[in-house]
Amino acid sequence: MYEMKPEYFIGIELIDEEHKQLFAYANEAYELLHEEFTPDKYDNISDILGKLREYTKKHFADEEAYMESIQYKRLFTQKVQHQQFIDKLDELDLEHLGEVQGQDEQIAEILKFLTDWLVNHILHVDGLIGK
Ligand SMILES: [Fe+2]
Repeated sequence: MYEMKPEYFIGIELIDEEHKQLFAYANEAYELLHEEFTPDKYDNISDILGKLREYTKKHFADEEAYMESIQYKRLFTQKVQHQQFIDKLDELDLEHLGEVQGQDEQIAEILKFLTDWLVNHILHVDGLIGK
């Protein structure tokens, strides 16, 4: 459903591979949203949020290390955007914690946030790293 189209590849293998994994998590959220026969998705939502947190921590660290290694000029902008992503994840986590109602709405919000971010950030911000 969500996949790395050619324009998303920035040409740095490690980063491209990690971006692929983020798309895989978007797919996971999409499938969970459309999973009709799971009446209670609370734990699945916790699981996706947890995985996103762990994985983006690693991914941002790798990406920032790479940018530092090439003395990349836009590193600061990147760090700000990465932090904004983490802050939004915190927000989504707080909304989710203990909230058993509106699960599909929660998943839809996670999915929208993630896909908007993947498109905007990878295409317009990370895309410049490879150039
Ligand atoms: Fe980035």
